[in-house]
Amino acid sequence: MSQRVTLLRPDDWHLHLRDGAVLRAVCPESARHFGRAIIMPNLVPPVVTGAEAEAYRARILAARPPGSGFTPLMTLYLTEDTDPEDVARAHASGLVTAVKLYPAGATTNSASGVRDFDRVRGVLEKMAEIGCPLCVHGEVTDPEVDIFDREAAFIDRVLDPIRRATPGLRVVMEHLTTQDGVEYVKTSRDGTLGATITTHHLIINRNHLLVGGIRPHYYCLPVAKREEHRLALRAAATSGDARFFLGTDSAPHTDANKESACGCAGCFTATNTLPLLAHVFEEEGALDRLEGFASRHGPAFYGLPENTDRIALTRGATPTAFPARIETEDGPVTVFDPGFEVYWRVDG
Ligand code: DOR
Ligand code: ZN
Repeated sequence: MSQRVTLLRPDDWHLHLRDGAVLRAVCPESARHFGRAIIMPNLVPPVVTGAEAEAYRARILAARPPGSGFTPLMTLYLTEDTDPEDVARAHASGLVTAVKLYPAGATTNSASGVRDFDRVRGVLEKMAEIGCPLCVHGEVTDPEVDIFDREAAFIDRVLDPIRRATPGLRVVMEHLTTQDGVEYVKTSRDGTLGATITTHHLIINRNHLLVGGIRPHYYCLPVAKREEHRLALRAAATSGDARFFLGTDSAPHTDANKESACGCAGCFTATNTLPLLAHVFEEEGALDRLEGFASRHGPAFYGLPENTDRIALTRGATPTAFPARIETEDGPVTVFDPGFEVYWRVDG
């Protein structure tokens, strides 16, 4: 029996589109289903200034399929030299939606990120004043801290002190991976803290990454944690709590860069995210809450209108065939394989 659900068109509140050949190949994958996406600025070199964001936005618009209404919501990459006035101008003009904080060395292309959080005080205060949200890669980089503990340590050592010191600053904890993160987000009752959750962190735990052979296409940062954390993320995403919303963190790397002795972090999920989410929400008996997670909670946090058109997902009688990889002029990019059959597909 086929089953159908319709949703207000979803948005992706955390997306990597890259640049050049990869941008041209992956942009249509997100534009097909999503209305808007928060675009990560970790290019090489990073998107630091308003002028750089404007130029990058033009390259994204040019990579959309003809007739696409997909809207990139730009972010600036926070550095210790970021000029608060540049942020304020770019935000006031509507060019930039948020600023992204990468602790230096935490992940892909984060070398220009922040080492000394005191040096970005002025920018954070300006952002609180003008209502510009801060998107946070929440992992400490202290080599003494185990990689599986880095999110929890970040909350105590960095995030909570920043939020206490900067009242009113609106923060999104990006790609939450732990129960500790879920619990911390739930302590916020004043609308200043939200969190994105990726599709892949609802599906894989660290066993999927490491048992029976290392699976480079399941390696991402923050790295997938124990099963109890995956279950906490599932509970949060499917709870209807508006503090949690979809940010796929779809992060394309070519297969050559993933299947390597030092493989890059990132799962590429843009192509099949919505059918996978329908599968997860159905498993949790929460299909009626998918629209909140994918289409309503994000705009509410960012103070933007919801999309007005709708998409439909159908559960067919036979498994949906997704492409195994997307071809780019730089080489193939493997599409995230959940490891089980998915019967959902997006209509049209
Ligand atoms: O897995 C990830 N990939 N995590 C990040 O934080 C960065 C991203 C990327 O840019 O590849
Ligand atoms: Zn990311």
